[in-house]
Amino acid sequence: MKVLLINGSPRSHGNTYIALSETAKTLNAEGIETEIIHIGNKPVRGCMACNTCKRTNSNKCVFDDDICNHLSEKAKEADAFVIGSPTYYGQPNGALMAVLQRALYSGNQYFAFKPVANIAICRRGGATATFQTMNMPFHMLNMPIVSSQYWNIAYGREEGEVQQDREGMQTMRTMARNMAWMLKNLSGKVHPKLEDWEPMHFIR
Ligand SMILES: Cc1cc2nc3c(=O)[nH]c(=O)nc-3n(C[C@H](O)[C@H](O)[C@H](O)COP(=O)(O)O)c2cc1C
Repeated sequence: MKVLLINGSPRSHGNTYIALSETAKTLNAEGIETEIIHIGNKPVRGCMACNTCKRTNSNKCVFDDDICNHLSEKAKEADAFVIGSPTYYGQPNGALMAVLQRALYSGNQYFAFKPVANIAICRRGGATATFQTMNMPFHMLNMPIVSSQYWNIAYGREEGEVQQDREGMQTMRTMARNMAWMLKNLSGKVHPKLEDWEPMHFIR
């Protein structure tokens, strides 16, 4: 079993990375393989709603010049996900969300029914809003959301400071153990069959 951890901070070894590493270490102790990937600092595109991914059933985004399709390829092999973001103006990092929205839309079958947890890091405030925002797409993809003893948030400003948030680090470890428990219990189980989608909008 393998968990893919996505670092949505432009700082490759900042506080988000440290919280993800604490999670990965705990998962490893539970016998679960991990890989941390970094969203990076290169420009990323937003979804342009062209629907080419749906029309062609490619499971790929037409924009092949950033990390999006690489992320989907990694997702294909993963059994679960942990996604971390710094809090920017009370929201997740915009680049992370731009990539995630495209990867989830184009490669949704690589994510569906796989457990997921989010982590939000902040200096002082807005982490709960970030955490809630990051959870929104997973409810639409039949992804079991892994909880902890508290929301998965931790505090720090300069790189490394988050390590001093002992309760925050404990929350990450508890979430990781809950994820391991869920993964072990779900292993080999068939997920429920989906009904045909009844798409409706509310114009009339
Ligand atoms: C553009 C920007 C906006 C930020 N907005 C907030 C905020 O709304 N609330 C907060 O507590 N911290 C805010 N911060 C601080 C970061 O969330 C904090 O430094 C965090 O530890 C960064 O995580 P990282 O080391 O993984 O990049 C902001 C930082 C930046 C660069």
